[in-house]
Amino acid sequence: IEVQEFDLVVFGASGDLAHRKLLPALYHRYADGQMPENARVVCSSRRSYSDDEYRTWARDALTEHVKDLEEECLERFLSKICYVSIDIGSGNGWEDLKAILDQRPDVIRAFYLAVGPDLFGTICESIGKAGLVTEQSRVVIEKPIGKNGSSAKALNETVGKVFKEEQIFRIDHYLGKETVQNLMALRFANALFEPLWNAAHIDHVQITVAESLGTGGRAGYYDTAGALRDMVQNHILQLLCLVAMEPPESMDADSVRDEKLKVLKALSPISEAMADKLTVRGQYKAGASAGGAVPGYLDELGRDDSTTETFVAVKAEIANWRWAGVPFYLRTGKRLAQRVSEIVVQFRPIPHSIFDEEAGTISANRLIIRLQPDEGVQMTVMIKDPGPGGMRLRQVPLDMSFAEAFKVRNPDAYERLIMDVIRGNQTLFMRRDEVDAAWAWIDPILQAWANSKDTPRAYTAGTWGPSASIALVERDGRTWAEEDL
Ligand code: BG6
Repeated sequence: IEVQEFDLVVFGASGDLAHRKLLPALYHRYADGQMPENARVVCSSRRSYSDDEYRTWARDALTEHVKDLEEECLERFLSKICYVSIDIGSGNGWEDLKAILDQRPDVIRAFYLAVGPDLFGTICESIGKAGLVTEQSRVVIEKPIGKNGSSAKALNETVGKVFKEEQIFRIDHYLGKETVQNLMALRFANALFEPLWNAAHIDHVQITVAESLGTGGRAGYYDTAGALRDMVQNHILQLLCLVAMEPPESMDADSVRDEKLKVLKALSPISEAMADKLTVRGQYKAGASAGGAVPGYLDELGRDDSTTETFVAVKAEIANWRWAGVPFYLRTGKRLAQRVSEIVVQFRPIPHSIFDEEAGTISANRLIIRLQPDEGVQMTVMIKDPGPGGMRLRQVPLDMSFAEAFKVRNPDAYERLIMDVIRGNQTLFMRRDEVDAAWAWIDPILQAWANSKDTPRAYTAGTWGPSASIALVERDGRTWAEEDL
């Protein structure tokens, strides 16, 4: 799809997100011929770089994060970048930015706020005051949107005074992941699954986003957030919505977001009295990861009084016709046994077996949508063990690995999302009411935890989290998927 001429302004351009994600994503789009030659990337931060100094910084970032960098293409890409220093505190620099943007007021203008959330409001207000907002403008903000429902509302109001809702792109980078989009293809481009996609045939769903890394250099931010705010309020609930939503009318942004919103609103509230039974929080202590010893969370943080959770498991339920009685077990954490993100749709067992005991156990079918590390879709089915012996049954995977099926580079989520911003397509971005509805479900859990005498349960780094999370599913006679594969 052709992309029109644009000016993309990146605030926080000397930060980690620009380094690891945004510049590489833009480079790839450029190298793939998806960025018009007259596009401009206006990078900005407080530091005082000249254009050339910033380009050297950008070159280093790209050298580190892009395989197969082509020198000639890199040079051309870097020539699209210019730099302007803005001090948000003092307000210096806005005039310089305006002078650059005023050179072509009619092109698409996107402001990407790759900065801490505490600056979103101030930057938007400054953009407004500097007179930079045109009809063709859009603004991109990263999660977390607020720390709870009321702060999210306040932030959305501030941003909403400067930009119209159709100009605001709230990024949840999970929505840009290839397999996540494939979830929609799987559900709505195949006749096979949809008739079975309900409580009559599905026993439960598991959504796991496990990371093997700790909080890295982000312990300061992370400690103010915790796993529930950092991962569940956004990424995991978005995945849940895509699994659970009704077929939207079309792929149009509002049709999809209307359906996701209905799911969020149908989530059964977790009351304070139930929080203990339906949620588990954990915090990692020292252990081993990738064959080496790793410190505990508190050591990384350099404090011993934090009760921030680095792991959370929740039993969620969606109170509607399609999903009544089907638990959605959600789980995420840092320093877990391995890096794996997947959605497991567990079908119900067969109603009656015609086989004798020798046939062995008949496992119910399971559809696994693997987001990472090796993207793909797997369906487990029972077959007869080959050979002339008796009828012995065995569970085997019907496996579709994207890397094997398509020998192409798997684009990073940001590549897709940045270009969607330029195209003005909001389908893969969160609408304001979705953010509110997600917080409305999260807030009581946070409140219950805050009021509880309990603190997060310790788990050893490199394991699957506290044993209470295993008990959460075992109580219902179920197991987490990795335990019986
Ligand atoms: C971010 C969280 O949104 O997602 C991080 O803030 C987390 O804490 C990251 O590590 C995980 O993203 P991915 O794409 O590596 O699974």
